[in-house]
Amino acid sequence: MPRKSFPAQDFRLPSAPGYDKIPPRLPLEKTYFAASRIFSAMSSFCSGMLLEFDMARQPPLDRARALLDETVDVLRRNYNSLLGIMMCDLDGEDRAAHCVRTVILSLLVGLQLGLAPEQTRNLGLSAMFRDVGMALLPYIADCPQPLAEDGGEALRQHPVLALGYLAHDIRCREVLRGIVEHHERVDGKGYPAGLTGDQISLAGKILAVADSYDALICAHPYSASLPPHLALARLRDLSGVAFDREVLEHVIRCLGAYPVGSVVETNDGQRAVVVENSPDTPQRPIVRPLPSLSADVGRVQGFRA
Ligand SMILES: [Fe+2]
Repeated sequence: MPRKSFPAQDFRLPSAPGYDKIPPRLPLEKTYFAASRIFSAMSSFCSGMLLEFDMARQPPLDRARALLDETVDVLRRNYNSLLGIMMCDLDGEDRAAHCVRTVILSLLVGLQLGLAPEQTRNLGLSAMFRDVGMALLPYIADCPQPLAEDGGEALRQHPVLALGYLAHDIRCREVLRGIVEHHERVDGKGYPAGLTGDQISLAGKILAVADSYDALICAHPYSASLPPHLALARLRDLSGVAFDREVLEHVIRCLGAYPVGSVVETNDGQRAVVVENSPDTPQRPIVRPLPSLSADVGRVQGFRA
């Protein structure tokens, strides 16, 4: 996939070849309805696909492509609305919601990298179907505790199981590589193949970061959730180890220093929630005040409600 570099302060999503032009950036309020509708439609789709998995049924690829195109359209208008909605209910045990959030973040990174429409859609397909192999391991998928060694070994097969299910219907090598490589690490300690560095596809690298970020911001029975800015810090600790440095920086760039949904303390001592990262001032997110809370907070300079 081609890559493109952008000026340090430019957060606008680029218009890659194949897109008409950069659409007007709509105010947050004007994109919430569309964002809410597509998030709900994606959640229903992923629930049906993952929770009512039927090996004998063909993967619903046409519906998936339509949903991905609609999601891209909303992201290009104002991606903050979808980022805000996906932060509303962070239940780590909701596999469908985890799938949707990972798809959204992956698409956003693909757009920010300047991928063409077909490549962005392929990235979305990889994200959407990457964990379908888990449905073939129901005793693992339903396990609420950290996995025992033998359970972990079986779990490591889920990318390959997904490949076996999808390879007949998805002939695109790019999509299949994203699916099978989404748990690889650049240091070679990932699975299933232990690939290193640029042996891993761009899709595999993006999905690895998006998947891990969402796992960190969600609460699980065996681990507490992290505030978004601390989740990014945790990922940064693994930059160049688990995650590709360049891809990770693009993800952080998309989300901002204080991602939408972060609870912050402004320099006048008020608690607030980040609702939008401004294209012009990425270090100064737009926030809305909150009642006094005892959550972990980041500190931002300035206050723009
Ligand atoms: Fe996975």
